[in-house]
Amino acid sequence: MSITLPPHSKMLTSDFIFGVATASFQIEGATTADNRLPSIWDTFCATPGKVKGADNGEIACDHYHLWEQDIKLIKDLSVDAYRLSIAWPRVMNEKGEANQAGLDFYRNLLKTLKAEGLTVFVTLYHWDLPQHLEDKGGWLNRETAYQFKQYADLVTKELSEWVDSWATFNEPFCAAILGYELGIHAPGLTKPEYGRQAAHHILLAHGLALPIIRKNAPQSQVGIVLNMNRSYAASEKAEDQFAGLMRETLDNQFFIEPLMKGQYPQILKTVAPQYLPTILPGDMEIICQQMDFLGMNFYTCNHNAFDSEKMFKDVKNSKTVEYTDIGWEVAPHAFTELLVNLHKQYTLPPMYITENGIACADNIIDGGINDDQRVRYLNDHLNALHQAIEEGVDIRGYFAWSLMDNFEWAEGYSKRFGLTYVDYQTQERTIKRSGYAYRDFLNSRKS
Ligand code: FCB
Repeated sequence: MSITLPPHSKMLTSDFIFGVATASFQIEGATTADNRLPSIWDTFCATPGKVKGADNGEIACDHYHLWEQDIKLIKDLSVDAYRLSIAWPRVMNEKGEANQAGLDFYRNLLKTLKAEGLTVFVTLYHWDLPQHLEDKGGWLNRETAYQFKQYADLVTKELSEWVDSWATFNEPFCAAILGYELGIHAPGLTKPEYGRQAAHHILLAHGLALPIIRKNAPQSQVGIVLNMNRSYAASEKAEDQFAGLMRETLDNQFFIEPLMKGQYPQILKTVAPQYLPTILPGDMEIICQQMDFLGMNFYTCNHNAFDSEKMFKDVKNSKTVEYTDIGWEVAPHAFTELLVNLHKQYTLPPMYITENGIACADNIIDGGINDDQRVRYLNDHLNALHQAIEEGVDIRGYFAWSLMDNFEWAEGYSKRFGLTYVDYQTQERTIKRSGYAYRDFLNSRKS
């Protein structure tokens, strides 16, 4: 089992970058070191019943202390690029002033990554909002968008020298909808009207920060990362077709349309006005600005049947298909379709696949991890991506999720997405068969 692409693939040319990705809260640990403030995820983890196994981020992969060794690991995988995120509560105090100790951590990390010749992608917000801002309403409070602008200003002034690409947010859908509407993620709120308002403020924060980042980091690209799963209707029945359309509208179009066209999906006005947030004059112009790139995280697809109360409900694929250890359908064809559909709908900026990967129930046997399912998943999704490029989508790079096993949010440490296995007792890292397959594939490219 190996990873291969057609020899003529554009993904094999030196312009296309391959990397691995992580996020601060999922790997760093050291949650009280060097004046780091509590984040909403610390609070959520400490709330009984929210995270599987009552797991928390206090130690995680201890990357805060083991970062030099982790950079060696990144190099061992022969990747071109690394995507990481910055923890807001590490770098800014409650008064909005710089916390130098936290900034030093990232400065050292970024400098070393650049010295190792890696292309560096940084996300400013991968869900670890300072708790003191949540105490004032978090993303339901419009003021948080202005606080984010200050944070983006501080970080990009301090760290841009070593960053090739800045993303404002990772997955506004998850931060807003899972966090404020469905209660699955921090801060765990569950009012139907909260999710879309939080989403609007996150998109506003993106737009407020964008010109500041451009000013502070004229040599870097600036964009945002959206998660998108392909939404299918469960059947040909008109009501299921409607369910599929609404799922696509609320999960995907609700986030990409304001960024690209300066409006929320028009269908919501007539069909589901309760999903439209309060918008102040000028907001949509702030949100809809030219970006240098759009990041997309892709994992799976979903199937939707009509539900009289919520418009759609998740059902399983009626065909026999493969599922991952987290229960997500494996659907590489959906990856191609999603990208090609978006390309037809919008004039997209260059795109990067900023996350793609699979949870497997990995075990160390005789010192190795034979995660063949992950190798197959990577191979099939890279080939699906190749197909989308053949069909005209401008995609410039791909990041596998993840460099190593880590804290998988509400699933705690029970789900493993890494190309590297982490023994959480010893903090030992062991490259899995998939990590070696990825490395061999990358090394097989002509330089
Ligand atoms: C994405 C998140 C990432 C990781 C993967 C599995 O939604 O961005 O942090 O947890 O899912």
